[in-house]
Amino acid sequence: MSDVLAVRATGVIRGRNDVPPRFRPPAPPRHFVGRDAELASIRAGVTVLYGAGGTGKTALALKWLRERGSGDQLYLDLAAHDLGRVLRAFGLSAEPEDERAVFRSLVLRRQFTLLLDNADSAEQVTPLLPPSGTVLVTSRVRLNLPQAHEIAVGSLTDDGRLGPLLDRSYVELPERQARLYRLCAWEPDTFGVPMAAAIAGESECDVEDALDDLVEKSLLTEVGDDGFRFHDLVRAHARAKRYQ
Ligand SMILES: Nc1ncnc2c1ncn2[C@@H]1O[C@H](COP(=O)(O)OP(=O)(O)OP(=O)(O)O)[C@@H](O)[C@H]1O
Ligand SMILES: [Mg+2]
Repeated sequence: MSDVLAVRATGVIRGRNDVPPRFRPPAPPRHFVGRDAELASIRAGVTVLYGAGGTGKTALALKWLRERGSGDQLYLDLAAHDLGRVLRAFGLSAEPEDERAVFRSLVLRRQFTLLLDNADSAEQVTPLLPPSGTVLVTSRVRLNLPQAHEIAVGSLTDDGRLGPLLDRSYVELPERQARLYRLCAWEPDTFGVPMAAAIAGESECDVEDALDDLVEKSLLTEVGDDGFRFHDLVRAHARAKRYQ
């Protein structure tokens, strides 16, 4: 079925007009630094940002969308969002086998700038790509998508700007959050609420709120549904605070 027919058959025409909040790109980190070359090299068409976990692919995509993206923007976390739910949020429905075609039609018709976050493979992404428009894709692996511009996102090296920005966020933290920030930074990788509560000697409920606040302040990254992780540079900053 052609995209246009899929649209007619499934009622895109009747769809809602604004992007539901859950599918709008979140704000980029408040203290975003560097990446000038990468930001300048993203343009219309399909761009894949690939690199190891935590290097800053999503942050880079969000920064580009906020500062250089145009039109309505649609954010899809391929690791978490279900395509059927996305369509339903726009007032659409489709048989499972038609969902990807209907999604492509929706993006094309509304000229959305699209962010496909956390892609696993080219097979997952290709059926979602509209025939024209601007699409950013993030992935931990190189996708080798034909016709896509693929940018390797390496670790961020502190060019001296991040430290003072983190300091500014840090001094504004209530003491309980600041303590959690210092303590949890000794975890080598992803940690959950129970682990953080044990380290801090506080209730899971209190700790969860404080961790959510740290995420909101871009000092901590949420991983999946209930994991947290520090970006390497932020972790180094938090660890250094222990000695000050
Ligand atoms: N350029 C930057 N300036 C400031 N903070 C950044 C920058 N890039 C990333 N960060 C911060 O580092 C953390 C990790 O970044 P991000 O989530 O973008 O990584 P990622 O590469 O998308 O990881 P994943 O593969 O797990 O999705 C976040 O807290 C983010 O706010
Ligand atoms: Mg990411």
